[in-house]
Amino acid sequence: MSDMDTLDLLEEEHQSVTEKLALLERAIGWLEEIDQQLELGTQAVAEMRRYLADEFRLHVAHEEDVLLPVLEQTPGAPQALLPELRSEHRELEDLAVELIRKVQAFARLRGPWSAARDELSGVAWRFYRLLDQHKDKEDREVFPAARRLFGAAQCEELARRLDELQAPKRPREGKKQAR
Ligand SMILES: [Fe+2]
Ligand SMILES: [Fe+2]
Repeated sequence: MSDMDTLDLLEEEHQSVTEKLALLERAIGWLEEIDQQLELGTQAVAEMRRYLADEFRLHVAHEEDVLLPVLEQTPGAPQALLPELRSEHRELEDLAVELIRKVQAFARLRGPWSAARDELSGVAWRFYRLLDQHKDKEDREVFPAARRLFGAAQCEELARRLDELQAPKRPREGKKQAR
């Protein structure tokens, strides 16, 4: 991997976050409409659910296990912000679990006026707002600081950590299927 590949990867993942935020916003709009759009809304929320369980989880791991540990050891990095990002990740994970639960409850009931729909859109909005401002903070302060401060040693460390994170995915002898 070349020097900036890891940061490029994180920025690309943020493009997916942006797309998924737009999708979630549309999904909430569809769910909140009085009629006709429930199907679209539930499809979009189901896509969001897949994204959260898969790509988004990986993105958080890339930040927590690759980027943040290197930033934490870099003088001049926005140190006060880093624990905040970690705690927002926990909050987002909890909200994602709640969101998935509400989607399941909503799918079971299917009533256009059900309380389940209101609860679903309530959790979806909370998730949307938190993810939106969290991503913004990373885009405005964290990624630029990494670009500015990281030299060859930090970039090598990023690449090493990324490889390490990806290593368990390679098939290994005697390893049980993860799911
Ligand atoms: Fe993050
Ligand atoms: Fe992020």
